[in-house]
Amino acid sequence: MKIICANWKFSEKLRKEKEAVNYLQKLEKSIAKKEGIEVKVFANFLVLKKLAKIAKKVKIGAQDLHWEEDGSFTGAPPSAKDLLLWGVKEVLIGHSETRFYFGVNDERVVLKLESAFKNGIFPTICLGETLEEKEKNQTEKVLKRQIEKGILPALTKIKPPQNSFLIAYEPVYAISGFAKILGKEPKPAKLEDIEVAHRTIKKILENSGYPTKVLYGGSCNKENAKELLSQEFIDGLLVGSASFEFNSFFDIIKNT
Ligand code: PGA
Repeated sequence: MKIICANWKFSEKLRKEKEAVNYLQKLEKSIAKKEGIEVKVFANFLVLKKLAKIAKKVKIGAQDLHWEEDGSFTGAPPSAKDLLLWGVKEVLIGHSETRFYFGVNDERVVLKLESAFKNGIFPTICLGETLEEKEKNQTEKVLKRQIEKGILPALTKIKPPQNSFLIAYEPVYAISGFAKILGKEPKPAKLEDIEVAHRTIKKILENSGYPTKVLYGGSCNKENAKELLSQEFIDGLLVGSASFEFNSFFDIIKNT
């Protein structure tokens, strides 16, 4: 079964309740009879509560959470308990845009993960190397560090059951927003690079007692989804800008 996720990021349109609800309703209708697929939508905090209330088959997730419940944390995202109050049981943790723009690092990923696990919220944890790291042949080293410093401490401490999280491998240079900053055409990483990264991630986590599914993210769209999804080592996709319009996201789902 493949897992297809929409990351609505900071889409202005999809922060409007009416647009977000309309999109979700169309999505629910079009996947109602589809078997062998899991669909998640990571939406802005502004619309989460409403979406979680009407979602049936689609799983609704937040794009981040704060690890504390209370105190002096100006500008923090909602806590795990806030998400639960809204009926939201999924979250993205460690997305490279939260690492780049909002100071999330491996240590904070651990705190966020611990909070998610303690509250029974299912995290999709994002990893990936930058272009500079890739060019220095440090991909495996970076992934190893992100897992050993950013994930394993939370697993060791909380001991969640198996299959209580997912990984999304998103090489930073392949994410469309960052590709634009680098002045490059947004395109997915090479299949052989994705394969090495996915096998590395799976091996480390399996050896730690947590065999895990790994999604790929970074410039996925209807043109490349079929090839990506036909790879046995890719368990699904995390789709950013190509998920901002219902039709272009649904074109990707059709490929499963
Ligand atoms: P993109 O983003 O599909 O726009 O490259 C993916 C992501 O950041 O999750």
